[in-house]
Amino acid sequence: MSEKIIIAKDLVKTYENGRTRALDGVSLEIVRGEAVAICGPSGSGKSTLLNLIGALDRPDSGELFVAGEDLVRQRGDLADFRARKLGFIFQLHHLIPSLTALENVLIPTLGVNGRDPEATGRATALLERVGLQGKFHRKPPELSGGERQRVAVARALINNPELILADEPTGSLDSKTERQVLELLYELCRERGATLLLVTHDPRVAQSADRVIEILDGRVKALAAA
Ligand SMILES: Nc1ncnc2c1ncn2[C@@H]1O[C@H](COP(=O)(O)OP(=O)(O)OP(=O)(O)O)[C@@H](O)[C@H]1O
Ligand SMILES: [Mg+2]
Repeated sequence: MSEKIIIAKDLVKTYENGRTRALDGVSLEIVRGEAVAICGPSGSGKSTLLNLIGALDRPDSGELFVAGEDLVRQRGDLADFRARKLGFIFQLHHLIPSLTALENVLIPTLGVNGRDPEATGRATALLERVGLQGKFHRKPPELSGGERQRVAVARALINNPELILADEPTGSLDSKTERQVLELLYELCRERGATLLLVTHDPRVAQSADRVIEILDGRVKALAAA
């Protein structure tokens, strides 16, 4: 298996019948186990890029290989690929408000091979690891913003994904809480050997990555060491 977990070549993605060119020929390679920060101004194409890599959308043209899957030529349903290999954390945590923290963390385990008997053990261990001991049975409205994002981090990791995609996961938090949650995310990915792709607007958060990729007007502007 390739040591590269992501290979993208000349990715182009347009919206509105080509009127908006969100990605204008993006090429990049990510090595397995790397933690990479993606930076760039609003509207530069960061979320578009993450959506393509996460198999949530398809490019107009270009090549894209993620975790051994050819996302351009693969025509089948990619839900199973996403569930087995990827973990997602979004800006708004997308927790289900009527379920407890533990139940939210368990959601991604329900689709994979029916019910996984070890999932509850893994979920409680993860919730403890992210500092939510004693709060497993609270629902999102009964948790702080930072605690909710910690639940979202645990949920993204529950299936031991190879690749974590995080799109400004702490956008709604104050900067101190944000850094705490993101340091935890870096740490957990390193512990597990998971690759992390993190969109962030905070240069200090980007500094903790192994590498920063800057996107400007739908292109990779610079590849610099963090
Ligand atoms: N569904 C869509 N339909 C039309 N245009 C879109 C759509 N999604 C994104 N765009 C446009 O594509 C460009 C890139 O958007 P994208 O969401 O990738 O930017 P971003 O870098 O994630 O910005 P932000 O930092 O504000 O989240 C923007 O010009 C945006 O308006
Ligand atoms: Mg975005």
